Amino acid sequence: MTLEQQARPDRTTAPAVEVSGVDKVFSTRSGDVPALSGIDLTVAPGEFVSLIGPSGCGKSTLMRLVADLDQPTSGSVRVFGKTADRARRDQDYGIVFQQAGLLPWRTVSANVALPLELHRTDAAARRSRVAELLEMVGLTDFADRYPDQLSGGMQQRVAIARALAEQPSLLLMDEPFGALDEMTRERMQSELVRISSETGAAVVFVTHSIPEAVFLSDRVVVMSPRPGRIQEIVPIALESERTEDLREDTAFFGMVTAVREALHQGTPTARGVENR
Ligand SMILES: Nc1ncnc2c1ncn2[C@@H]1O[C@H](COP(=O)(O)OP(=O)(O)OP(=O)(O)O)[C@@H](O)[C@H]1O
Ligand SMILES: [Mg+2]
Repeated sequence: MTLEQQARPDRTTAPAVEVSGVDKVFSTRSGDVPALSGIDLTVAPGEFVSLIGPSGCGKSTLMRLVADLDQPTSGSVRVFGKTADRARRDQDYGIVFQQAGLLPWRTVSANVALPLELHRTDAAARRSRVAELLEMVGLTDFADRYPDQLSGGMQQRVAIARALAEQPSLLLMDEPFGALDEMTRERMQSELVRISSETGAAVVFVTHSIPEAVFLSDRVVVMSPRPGRIQEIVPIALESERTEDLREDTAFFGMVTAVREALHQGTPTARGVENR
């Protein structure tokens, strides 16, 4: 399979993600921690949505609920019309979280091949797909290395390649580029724009970088501090294509300002959010 081929066709026209009336309270020894309150969010198939907000506002918690790594205290989460649990068991999405989460005893190529092995892709197809993915993330020369022989950013690129291995219709990405240097980060952003438009995958993407959110997204969801609520959803109205030139475009700066203002409405000092 090549990257140019379509993502697995949706068996349904249901939204990629539908979060309705979700609250999340963590019970800890020192009392209850309300992490999310009254979250309603629908992500259409093929849509790119970023979540941005101060540290601790519940972005990772929301991603974990969608990925069925935790359950809401109230409300519901559906993925392609299924329960979060069903979608996880059907492996309807790829995940890239803050930590790369590679298997240390597997080489780079064996880590990327893992989802394909689990789905019994034949060996020849697996080899060519892994080669293609490693080339995309610029790690062809590191195929036989082990994760502890790579930098943090390189490990993260392996995790991204692994998440893309099966052309998922939905990608859940929680600060996937946080550990990358600025140049690699911009390159990966452009790759992600290309991949999501070519495969038609929906993406839910957490970031602390306003320009990154603007560059990538159809809509930016601005969250308020704890307990996390959706403060504003900013549609990213950009006429031009998401190419490198866009980063220096006046319309782009205008959208960066719009998101920054939405963020600062809730928090005079939106700690943990980068303006770069
Ligand atoms: N397992 C847990 N037990 C108790 N509290 C938790 C747990 N997980 C998260 N929290 C709390 O919930 C809140 C939201 O955490 P979360 O990790 O979702 O924030 P975040 O927006 O992803 O922050 P960051 O930008 O720093 O990654 C925080 O106050 C955190 O302390
Ligand atoms: Mg987080």
